[in-house]
Amino acid sequence: MAIALALLVIVIGSVVFHLVTPWWLTPLASNWKTMDDTLTITVVITGIFFVVINLFVVYSLWRFRHRDGHRAAYEPDNRKLEHWLIGITTVGVVALLAPGLVVYADYVRPPQDAMVLEVVGQQWQWRFRFPGEGGKLGGSDARFVNAANPLGLDPSDPAGQDNIVIVGNEVHLPLNKPVKVLMRSHDVLHDFFVPQFRARMNIVPGQVSSFWFTPTRAGRYESMCAQLCGVGHPNMRGFVVLEEEAAFQAWLKQQPTFAMTMAAKPAAPSGADPLAAQGQTVAQAKGCVACHSVDGSASVGPTWKGLFGKTESLDDGSTALVDETFLREFIRNPTARSIKGYPPVMPKIELTDDELNALVAHIKAQAPK
Ligand code: CUA
Repeated sequence: MAIALALLVIVIGSVVFHLVTPWWLTPLASNWKTMDDTLTITVVITGIFFVVINLFVVYSLWRFRHRDGHRAAYEPDNRKLEHWLIGITTVGVVALLAPGLVVYADYVRPPQDAMVLEVVGQQWQWRFRFPGEGGKLGGSDARFVNAANPLGLDPSDPAGQDNIVIVGNEVHLPLNKPVKVLMRSHDVLHDFFVPQFRARMNIVPGQVSSFWFTPTRAGRYESMCAQLCGVGHPNMRGFVVLEEEAAFQAWLKQQPTFAMTMAAKPAAPSGADPLAAQGQTVAQAKGCVACHSVDGSASVGPTWKGLFGKTESLDDGSTALVDETFLREFIRNPTARSIKGYPPVMPKIELTDDELNALVAHIKAQAPK
């Protein structure tokens, strides 16, 4: 009887919890109310089954409890009851799955007039690109990726020259215009997710995946990665700003085209070492910044502030002076030695000799003057 009572409390508690929970959906900022509707359908159907099945168990525990002189009747099968149960379960499962299929079919079929946004994921950051005035995204390939061309656009493709390259992790979009999002990855499986849009999609290396949505509510929304993609995964964040068309166009005008980014030399503040400035771009492009700060704050890896010239203790008990040779060797082969106090999780990142030199100069520039 105690079990019957406990089950009853669990059923009532679960229903009440769902009605008063603060952990409900974030405010919707896109056209995908149907996503919320399918979720509601799922919660209601599974909720009904949960309540009915548990109340039946409570009833049976009470009604058929042990009493002296009573014997259980043996009834190995009951055709009529089985047909009822199969019928009800079938209807329940169809009602759970069918609405999602309808919504998903809509989700991956963008309207003809949708504007195009490209999202590129890499460990551990987001990049964005719009087609330019020509209206076409130029070709891209992993072999074109370098510090100056982090999106890997084909420099010889005329269609790519006017493409608008977003430098940084924040992209803007106009309200009430359908957007077709095309996604690709430079390295591993990522997933572009903005909870307020109810939209997300896996990004599989080697293929382009897509979905579409129409922004409906102005604001700045955080985009995150919804697939565990390595130690920097929680830092793989960006922003999507939804604003009026005029504000969006004004912002878009300030963004460089691909041709402009290729022509420009890395901007170096006067007096600063141009190699170190280039190294800063490399640190951004290669995702180093997900784990290494330059302001002294703690992260997955050691901060670069004051790292150069320091003596670090290694896990094997020895010590090492952090100089150019040490940095070069460590970056080239990050798992050969391990620094005390840090997990040995740094990935080996492909760098040209020029990129490595620039990166080391950048780290050196963070040393106290
Ligand atoms: Cu990318 Cu998690």
